Amino acid sequence: MKTHTLLMPLDMHLHLRDGVMLENVAPLTAFTFSGALIMPNLVPPVDTLEAVQSYKQRIMAAVPNDYFESYMTLFYKNYDKAFLENVVDEITAIKLYPAGITTNSEGGVSSFDIEEMRVTLEAMSELGIPLCVHGETDGFVMDREAEFMSIYELLAKNFPKLKLVMEHITTKAAVDMLDKYDNLYATITVHHLLLTLDDVVGGMMMPHHFCKPIAKRPEDLDALLGVALEAHPKVMFGSDSAPHPQHKKESCGCAAGVFTAPIALQLLTEIFEQFDKLDNLQSFVSDNAQNIYGICPEFKEVTLEKRPFVVPENYAGVVPMYAGEVIGWAIESVD
Ligand code: NCD
Ligand code: ZN
Repeated sequence: MKTHTLLMPLDMHLHLRDGVMLENVAPLTAFTFSGALIMPNLVPPVDTLEAVQSYKQRIMAAVPNDYFESYMTLFYKNYDKAFLENVVDEITAIKLYPAGITTNSEGGVSSFDIEEMRVTLEAMSELGIPLCVHGETDGFVMDREAEFMSIYELLAKNFPKLKLVMEHITTKAAVDMLDKYDNLYATITVHHLLLTLDDVVGGMMMPHHFCKPIAKRPEDLDALLGVALEAHPKVMFGSDSAPHPQHKKESCGCAAGVFTAPIALQLLTEIFEQFDKLDNLQSFVSDNAQNIYGICPEFKEVTLEKRPFVVPENYAGVVPMYAGEVIGWAIESVD
């Protein structure tokens, strides 16, 4: 039986929610990942030191063992330097959402006026806090990410010492932007390495493939595969696994978000094997993130086996991507 082992997998973009949902989904990630960068889009958003600390405690209480690190993020606002100095030791990054662009982002940024943001972004540069960005405008849905490239350029040029992470990139435009500025990095999800818009609305409408940013064109998928399969050193895995209850997805007005946490490593292994790039998967799912964020995760060794695995229909009321379908790799052991 063919196997493949990964050390200290990291998910550098994860939604865990709160309450019962948190208790249900956090163990699924903690089972196979050494750590994850936790998104702050709760209601209300995680935007104070106390909120970061208490959310981290709730996450750690929800995972069954100590071998999981929750790397916390703060919801971006125009904070002053004293506030950031106070919070810097508790966070790994700050996450910026344009106001209203996705789930629970209403309190986000409504204008990208560099002068209004300067105090915060200069303080972040000095304190070494990376800025993670949901890069979409409010333009036409297929153009939102490409239109945001000029804002990434503005930020990258004005704050050359600020580490900027283009989150969950979905376009060739974003891939092409990566090497233009030293301080630009990116995360890529597993679903954006598999889907195009055709898989969302090309046949029957597939709510469990619907997320922000929406999956794009075949040429975009090819560009994403290009950098992911080579494990480009500025690119990291970030699942953007975003659990919503089944009734919020299978309804009139489907919530945006694809739930992949429990099947992400199996799918990634299948993709990398298919393209004969399994040797690069370790860098994509862990080493690059360790280098970019300067983090040193808990030891974890995950072995996957090449055998058919039927994706469960749901995990405590949350329907995963590919529910009921067979994928080619399964988790064999975790040490
Ligand atoms: C995310 C969520 O549900 O929190 N949804 C999504 O479609 N990706 C938010 C986000 O990352 O945009
Ligand atoms: Zn997200």
